[in-house]
Parts: sequence; C-alpha cells; structure tokens
Amino acid sequence: MLQKSILEKKIKRVTLFGNPVKQSLSPLIHQYFSKETGVLYQYTLCLCTEENFFLKISNFFKNGGIGANITVPFKKKIFSVPHIINKFSRISKTVNTLIKCSNNKIIGDNTDGLGLLYDLKNLFIFKKNTTVLLLGAGGAATSVIYHLLMENCLIYISNRTLMKSKILIKQFKKFGKIFIFEEYKCSQIFDIIINATSSGLYGSYPIFPLSVLHHDIFCYDISYNKNGNLTPFLKLCKNYGVKNFSDGLGMLVAQAAYSFFAWFKIMPNIQSTIMFIRSLNEKLL
Ligand code: ATR
Repeated sequence: MLQKSILEKKIKRVTLFGNPVKQSLSPLIHQYFSKETGVLYQYTLCLCTEENFFLKISNFFKNGGIGANITVPFKKKIFSVPHIINKFSRISKTVNTLIKCSNNKIIGDNTDGLGLLYDLKNLFIFKKNTTVLLLGAGGAATSVIYHLLMENCLIYISNRTLMKSKILIKQFKKFGKIFIFEEYKCSQIFDIIINATSSGLYGSYPIFPLSVLHHDIFCYDISYNKNGNLTPFLKLCKNYGVKNFSDGLGMLVAQAAYSFFAWFKIMPNIQSTIMFIRSLNEKLL
C-alpha cells in the first residue's frame, strides 16, 4: 500500500522490479544520488513472479510511478511493454530502465552496457581486438554485447544452454566479431573474462575451463556481494592465481547513474557513489 505521506508530499517514486531483489544495493545508491543532487525521490524494491510481473508494473505507473528499473529475470520479458524503445534497448531487445513521459507514454531503455563500459574503462585498457570470454547468454549478457563490440572486442560466448548462445550470435554478428566458445577448437588467449551469468545470486559460479585463466587476464563479475566479499566466480579466479579482477559494483553504480539521468536529466557523481558504497562495506567488515 502506498504511504499517505508520499502521496501527500508528491515525492517522485521509482521502483526496481525483479526476483530476487532483497540483495540489491540500488536503494542505497539512489539514496546517495538523492542527497548529492538534491532530487527528492523514493526508490523501492518490488519482488515479482512470472505471473504478477506485468500487473505490478502497470499498477505502479497507474499509481504515479515516474520510472523503474528492471532486473533479473525480466529484462527480456519487459521488452514488449514500453511505447517507445531507445537505441540500446532496440539492439539488445532488453530493458533495464523505464521512463514515464509527461504524455503518459513509457520509454524503455537499457543503461547496462554504458555502465559496464564506464567501469571497465576505469579498470582495464581496451586495445584493438581485445578478446573477451563472455559467460552467460541471459538478459545481462545481451545488454552489454553491443557496447563491447563497439570497442572492437572479439567476443566468445559460453553459456550453459548452447541454444541461447547461438541466438545471441545471430542477433549480434552484424555489429562485429562474436563467436561460440568451443573449448576444443578455441586456442584463443583471452584478455578478459566477464561473468554475466546470474549464478552468483545462488552462491555458485558458471562452469568454464580453468585453463583459460592466466596471470595477465582480467576477470570481471557483473554481479557483486552486498557485504563486499568476493563473488564465488572471483574467489575461484583468485584461487587460480588471477591478480586483476573486479566485481560489478562500479557497473551497478554507473548504470544507476545513467538511469537517474534518464529520469531527472542530472548526472550524479559516479566515483563518489562507488567510494561511499565501498566505505559502507569496510565499516561492516
Ligand atoms: P540476467 O538478466 O541476469 O542475465 P537471465 O536472463 O535469467 O538473467 O539469465 C541468467 C544467465 O545466467 C543465463 O545465461 C543462465 O544460463 P542458462 O541460459 O543456461 O539458463 C546463467 N546461469 C544462471 N545460473 C547459472 C549457473 N549456476 N551456472 C551457469 N550459468 C548459470
């Protein structure tokens, strides 16, 4: 039920729809954005099922919601809902941000790819033909492929369900070099591995040949642990001697900042927000 005070004060409302959502750092990130920019809004979480997802979204906008984020496992499912689809959503057929316009039309956008690039560019030096092993072929993987291809990356996809990798190759091959990762045929030495599976949410990591790990590789997990601990994927990489790695906190904050910009036309400070969240984790340890 909507709190009376919110309606009375007309505080703008934004919600994250997904399943699970309780692990999300997004409310903390948005509280920080709100303080830093002076934009008054409330960011809440909404746990949905496959059955009630569309109804919950529709009720939220009917009741005055001005924007939303969509997370696992609904980034593809939501694609049919918005009246207008922005470029990155159109290409990836995924949506992580909904924006309600003054004429009540809903715009669908995806800020994940921009968020990943922002963070990777801080942590890693792209070269021409950077070789990427991308683990996963769900909404998260799909959201970032176009941006990696625009950086001239060579992408090899490995996913538990092979058919989903094949669909992605078909969808993205017109934009650049993207292949199926086949362990026995691929003699490629990778510059970077990106874990874009949701396995971390369930305390595990995706299966991939550990022989691809080498001293100079950079391992990036697009997920993160709320308490700042290493994700299962990063723990594994570290145990196998990988020196350079990062969780996806930077990407999370950056994609949130681009969503915030889509709603309020102000860009919050990404670096200070990352530092704030990391400092909270340090206090917890
Ligand atoms: P998201 O929007 O976060 O990508 P999703 O669309 O549900 O969520 O996709 C989840 C991805 O993580 C899929 O690639 C899934 O593999 P399948 O396509 O085979 O389902 C992958 N995934 C989830 N749990 C996994 C696990 N334990 N090991 C390997 N891959 C896993």
